[in-house]
Amino acid sequence: HGVSVIDHPLVQHKLTLMRVKETPTVEFRRLLREISMLLCYEATRDLELTATTIETPLTTMQAPVLAGKKLVFASILRAGNGLLEGMLDLVPSARVAHVGLYRDPKTLTAVEYYFKAPEDMHERRVIVLDPMLATANSAVAAVDRLKERGASDLRFVCLLAAPEGIERLRSNHPDVPIVTAAVDEGLNSHGYIVPGLGDAGDRMFG
Ligand code: PRP
Repeated sequence: HGVSVIDHPLVQHKLTLMRVKETPTVEFRRLLREISMLLCYEATRDLELTATTIETPLTTMQAPVLAGKKLVFASILRAGNGLLEGMLDLVPSARVAHVGLYRDPKTLTAVEYYFKAPEDMHERRVIVLDPMLATANSAVAAVDRLKERGASDLRFVCLLAAPEGIERLRSNHPDVPIVTAAVDEGLNSHGYIVPGLGDAGDRMFG
């Protein structure tokens, strides 16, 4: 409940290619960009529409357009930027928030080093982006921070999730639905998702 696993064949095929350890950076980036468009399609499925009057070459009609303010994509740096590109391909007018967090390798707690978000967060749907939901320390910290800034309509989109991370994010923020391409077995002793795909940030940026 509150968790959508996107089992679309294109998503699953591309994700498998991303998991392969020989897949080079250039391919990895391209695949993530492609998958992110498909995840975006799912994460925006319930956006509200309103009607507007338009003139086609033949007649006048009432036609649907998105209601309300532009979306905000909130990218958890660095790896979130890999999802951001494809999302912006699909929703080019979206606003963007940046949440800089790194995971302390010993304690696995999320440490903030950057935060910048549009002013009117309370009026917008916010889609939080991070390819990996491991312990969920990063996701919980990012959502805490975005809510502090007024956001109240949030979604979390990732590529891979560990059951522990889903549990933690759901219990801390039950109002935030999760969209993921897969739920893996669990976490190893270093907090990496297993079988996973390694460190997404490193595979994308080096
Ligand atoms: C990784 C990953 C997520 C986070 C997930 O980021 O990209 O942001 O860890 O782990 P969690 O759910 O246990 O918090 P990392 O700290 O390696 O930073 P990077 O994205 O800059 O590489």
